[in-house]
Amino acid sequence: MAAVSVQVPPTDDIMASSTPFSPLAQSMVDERQSSIAAAATPAESLATVTTSVPRKRNVFDMFRLDGRVAVITGGARGLGYSMAEGLCAAGLSGIAILDLQTDLGEQACDQLHSEYGVSARFYRLDVRDEVAVQDAMDSVVRDLGRIDILVLSAGVADIVHAEDYSPAKFRRVIDINLNGSFVCAQAAGKHMIAAGRGGSVIFVGSMSGSIVNWPNPQSAYNASKAGVIHLMKSLSAEWAKYRIRCNSISPGYMDTPLNTTYEEAYFHEWKSRTPMNRLGQPEELAGCALWLASDASSYTTGSDILIDGGYTVL
Ligand SMILES: NC(=O)c1ccc[n+]([C@@H]2O[C@H](COP(=O)([O-])OP(=O)(O)OC[C@H]3O[C@@H](n4cnc5c(N)ncnc54)[C@H](O)[C@@H]3O)[C@@H](O)[C@H]2O)c1
Repeated sequence: MAAVSVQVPPTDDIMASSTPFSPLAQSMVDERQSSIAAAATPAESLATVTTSVPRKRNVFDMFRLDGRVAVITGGARGLGYSMAEGLCAAGLSGIAILDLQTDLGEQACDQLHSEYGVSARFYRLDVRDEVAVQDAMDSVVRDLGRIDILVLSAGVADIVHAEDYSPAKFRRVIDINLNGSFVCAQAAGKHMIAAGRGGSVIFVGSMSGSIVNWPNPQSAYNASKAGVIHLMKSLSAEWAKYRIRCNSISPGYMDTPLNTTYEEAYFHEWKSRTPMNRLGQPEELAGCALWLASDASSYTTGSDILIDGGYTVL
């Protein structure tokens, strides 16, 4: 009788929490266990199968985030706040909002705590400031115990014709959207790697990372988001060995304060170029964020998920 050895994950495996392996892995092990049990004495079957594989789970259980801690940059409002709500509803134990806007950030934390009972902390920072970012991530680990999930939603947009774009203004967009995402991913990633439990990093790209919006001139934004998506892919390859999954959500036009400063004419144009003929609502990203944050997407890394009402199919 050949010995069957199933690799045992660390007991404190993040992808594991109470239930480390996918249903598929579970069913393969169950099958092995039954055939061994049929062919061997009970003592042999117990001795030869080494596994901490959990019981099979209902698919909805795979979306649970009980005991985990998430950090959301730009979570004081807009898409970041909606994604924060989606994660809290799935049982997070702690959430940290990192944002420039203190009043909104503190209100967001109060709201998340009162609605979902989660421990919520606000840290004011500019994502361009790598020292402040590292300090904040260290504080999150000290205050909330760990970092399992990072959502990178802090971002800005400009509409400026390329020939008029001042280099300083162009650089600001790249610095916040692209460099800021890297700085935050690196600072949280160090903690995830040191803890050895894996994790999930969700970048917020944009459909502008793969198409050019028309007629709005926004070269810096488009370039920054293309960079974000390729940064995500690069980190997904580098960090797979640490079981840190990296993916991005790329929205089309969404109904958030980011877009309210633009001319009315743009809105009509944006809607008419979108097959669903409307802007997206912030909560329409929450399900995807939860899927990417949770074990429900345990084999998904390096993927960019477009949520754009069909804009990019035309
Ligand atoms: N709204 C859209 O149509 C749309 C479409 C595609 C992608 N996105 C992306 O989604 C993300 C969120 O956008 P939103 O619509 O929620 O915007 P929003 O303006 O409502 O929220 C962005 C948040 O980021 C924060 N922020 C901005 N600069 C920061 C900095 N330097 N440091 C820390 N925090 C900072 C803001 O204070 C704000 O709370 C952005 O990355 C944006 O590019 C938005």
